[in-house]
Amino acid sequence: MQAIILVGGLGTRLRPITYDVPKALVPIRNKPFLGYTVDLLRDAGIDGMILSLGYMPDPIQSYIAAREDLADFTVDYAVEDHALGTAGGVKNAEGFLRDDGPVVVLNGDVLTGMNLRAALERHRESGAQATIALTSVEDPTAYGLVEVEHDMKVRRFLEKPSPDEITTNLINAGVYVLEREVFDAIPARREVSIEREIFPRLQEEGRLYAHVSSSYWRDIGTPRSYLAASNDVLSGAVGAREGFRYVSVPESTAVGKNAKILPPVAVGEGCEISDLATVGGRVSLGRGCRIGEGAVVEGSILLDGAVVEAGAVVRGSILGPESRVGAGAIVRGLSVLGARSVVGGGNVLDNGLRLNPEVELPPKSINF
Ligand code: GTP
Repeated sequence: MQAIILVGGLGTRLRPITYDVPKALVPIRNKPFLGYTVDLLRDAGIDGMILSLGYMPDPIQSYIAAREDLADFTVDYAVEDHALGTAGGVKNAEGFLRDDGPVVVLNGDVLTGMNLRAALERHRESGAQATIALTSVEDPTAYGLVEVEHDMKVRRFLEKPSPDEITTNLINAGVYVLEREVFDAIPARREVSIEREIFPRLQEEGRLYAHVSSSYWRDIGTPRSYLAASNDVLSGAVGAREGFRYVSVPESTAVGKNAKILPPVAVGEGCEISDLATVGGRVSLGRGCRIGEGAVVEGSILLDGAVVEAGAVVRGSILGPESRVGAGAIVRGLSVLGARSVVGGGNVLDNGLRLNPEVELPPKSINF
């Protein structure tokens, strides 16, 4: 059985990181995100996937090509030359399907421990043309809600409701099972949204059912949710495989005198953690990161080659590849640095500030 994975979006909400790294490949505990999706599919006994690609397809294809452990797992690539949207991307992958059975479709930015087999079984039992997996969230106001009947037929979609309109906390989890008839209903070669165009039509016809999952679920579409997902994987709440450790520091790490490395933490190959530095409490360092003397890095994700100079503090933030935080600077509060950007010494970045790739902030130019 094959699944279709939608990984063609621009990932605008996760900019500036997604200017350089497609959302499907952002690292979580130093593993490209798509690796978790492949694990989920294989755990469910699915033996192949079709990647529906658009934005930045090359690094995604290179990542798969470099994986030598996928011999018994087929990967096909359906590449769009212009954005086809979530349904258009599914339609574009149709030609790679090898049988006529129902197809599992996944948004490529969903981190979940969901049992896909259970979703498929529910789909078969209900005789639906399409089944949407639903998950409950604490604050549903930011999402599209899905109301269901007692028999799990989808009753209504509610887009970003105000607090007094909320009747459910179930949202679309970005995991679907589709019969092949659904593909016939998607127009080819033009942009179509599965959520806004295809599902409402199926719902009106009474052919759309839901499967409620109580498993871990989170999307990684924003800096906040990406960081939260990273924290959850670091602490083993989801995605842990055999040999998982709270403190993962390879031998290639140069650790200075009296440096503190606190769990949970994952350090990539070839990093340098200088004297008196503190790194940890939910930190993932990519390959070749350098943390200067006395610097503090907590609750953050550093992509490959990021540098934090002496005495700087990085808290609850995301540093893009080869970005640099100058001596004594503070980067906190969900700030995001683009690739190769530089925060000059003595700056304070806070409140979700985002620095574009290559931008250099002169020393002491921003304070909060
Ligand atoms: P934002 O721009 O931040 O909204 O992110 P996004 O581009 O990823 O959009 P969204 O989160 O709504 O997309 C959900 C999933 O569908 C993601 O895994 C996207 O990669 C994928 N996706 C979105 N648009 C397209 C598209 O036009 N083609 C394909 N193949 N996939 C898409």
